[in-house]
Amino acid sequence: MQNLWNPDISELSLQIANLNPSKIIVLVDENTHEQCLPHLIITIPELDGAEILEVPAGEESKTLEIAAELWMGLNDLEADRSSLLINLGGGMITDLGGFVASTFRRGMFFIHIPTTLLAMVDAAIGGKTGVNLGPYKNHIGTFQNPVATIVSPVWLETLSQRQLLAGFAEVLKHALIANEEYWQGCSTVSEMTYKSLAPLLERSIEIKEKVIIKDPFEKGERKALNFGHTIGHALESLSLHTSQPLLHGEAIGLGLIYETMISAQRGLLSEHESERILATLKMWYGHIEHETDPEKWWPLMLKDKKNRGQEVNCTLLQGIGKALINQQLNKAELAKLLIG
Ligand SMILES: NC(=O)c1ccc[n+]([C@@H]2O[C@H](COP(=O)([O-])OP(=O)(O)OC[C@H]3O[C@@H](n4cnc5c(N)ncnc54)[C@H](O)[C@@H]3O)[C@@H](O)[C@H]2O)c1
Ligand SMILES: [Zn+2]
Repeated sequence: MQNLWNPDISELSLQIANLNPSKIIVLVDENTHEQCLPHLIITIPELDGAEILEVPAGEESKTLEIAAELWMGLNDLEADRSSLLINLGGGMITDLGGFVASTFRRGMFFIHIPTTLLAMVDAAIGGKTGVNLGPYKNHIGTFQNPVATIVSPVWLETLSQRQLLAGFAEVLKHALIANEEYWQGCSTVSEMTYKSLAPLLERSIEIKEKVIIKDPFEKGERKALNFGHTIGHALESLSLHTSQPLLHGEAIGLGLIYETMISAQRGLLSEHESERILATLKMWYGHIEHETDPEKWWPLMLKDKKNRGQEVNCTLLQGIGKALINQQLNKAELAKLLIG
């Protein structure tokens, strides 16, 4: 797989020339159909005559039922193993499209063009594809790399502030687990705009890629990427049935705050380090409404896929730029956490 940093997406023309696919199909959701597809088609002449498959926007489309509709759609379009599916969208589209392409006729070519910040730095990198099975997130899926992931910041221009802030949580996570200097750069960001975020993308992708190359099937080191996610996932789940569901990245922003606090409580971070980290994280995510009672988090944390038995497995920080995987959390240490 190649991850291609190319601000003008013209790289796609080269990829198409190399593959010489029998047919090109672009998968979009209703928003990326409207906001992104016109620009892609104008820029890439090879897409003249490409077929378009559209699904409704939102996580509700990441199901086996929609995947089956897409398999039928590909069949009706007479796609074969040498056809190319281009996944133009956020993480929902790259997960769903990657899954559909990696299973259709035992696998056809696919290329990701991520259009949300979260998909650019996270979902479209690393070869995990999948759909949800009822309430179980990403329960059915494959590990399959696309032919290429072409990352261009151009798509950030139409993304809402809320979506940008959600994706930024994963950028901050990458910095915290991997590189102090990059963290310093990220912590000077003062606005959620294309201009301030675009320069951070390349490094963030590089960090995720490095972790994945060392551990492609999530046996060990990849767990570093779970920093912020043990508590974050619990907060995300708890919010889903309220009137204010959190975006994944918003929950992760909060999870980063709490898991930094736990790292500090354990003496893994100096006071100075934890103050620096928390000042930035709280500025962006501290105001987000969420369930603050750890008693309510705990049952959900116990259900986390990463656990073994009754222990909660978590990734913590040992200094800025260094993740410490396989830490067992206990309920008592959660009681002291309060975002001040
Ligand atoms: N495979 C992985 O390793 C991995 C990692 C992290 C997350 N994920 C998955 O990613 C998904 C979340 O991704 P997401 O946050 O990108 O959500 P998403 O794909 O649902 O996109 C969020 C919203 O933004 C809209 N949108 C997308 N691009 C746009 C643009 N350029 N301009 C305007 N609107 C745009 C979408 O239509 C949608 O309404 C989840 O399903 C999650 O499980 C996967
Ligand atoms: Zn995440």
